[in-house]
Amino acid sequence: MIHADLKGKTAIITGGASGLGLCAVELFTEMGCTVAICDVNEERIATQVTRLTEMDRHVLPAPADLRDNDSVDAMVKQAAEAMGGIDYLVNVAGHSVTLEIIPPGDLQSQTEQLWQDIMSVNLMSVFRTVKAAEPYLRESKGAVVSTSSMSGFRPVVPVPLTVSPKAVSPP
Ligand SMILES: NC(=O)c1ccc[n+]([C@@H]2O[C@H](COP(=O)([O-])OP(=O)(O)OC[C@H]3O[C@@H](n4cnc5c(N)ncnc54)[C@H](O)[C@@H]3O)[C@@H](O)[C@H]2O)c1
Repeated sequence: MIHADLKGKTAIITGGASGLGLCAVELFTEMGCTVAICDVNEERIATQVTRLTEMDRHVLPAPADLRDNDSVDAMVKQAAEAMGGIDYLVNVAGHSVTLEIIPPGDLQSQTEQLWQDIMSVNLMSVFRTVKAAEPYLRESKGAVVSTSSMSGFRPVVPVPLTVSPKAVSPP
């Protein structure tokens, strides 16, 4: 059980419209924090903002495509102005579609664009959000939490391998 008094605090949570990000939104708002729900899916943001507002939680929509620097900059600026600053930046957004469309034995079906997209959302977006939020976080002496996956430490094999495990393991 996690508990802290976050009344008067503000956060941006990326990927906040579903999955782990939405869990973080639930937890932070339950502890009194005002949260800007950042996601590329505006429909899901609207659904969660309506639902959580009805529960008297303090949330606001912060739509952005984290693959795009200008979109990130605008989202962070608008959220900071609307909330009066940023105490926490929580990076959760991820391209979890990768679990379905990169079977290790099907390299030929992959494109460079797919890999660019994955790197842009899963890796570069953290650089973009932290850079955009840095002035506000310095001001508030705030904190950044960036989530990752155990897949970063070891291969996850969701389908039977058609190539040797050694071929997909890091050196
Ligand atoms: N679910 C798990 O058990 C688990 C465990 C370890 C790591 N992870 C990783 O954590 C991340 C989130 O997982 P999840 O299960 O919550 O996934 P999810 O698909 O439920 O949520 C990801 C959210 O990120 C958003 N998103 C994707 N691309 C975006 C973009 N370009 N701009 C803004 N928002 C974007 C999606 O719209 C979605 O709402 C993934 O990278 C996943 O691999 C998940």
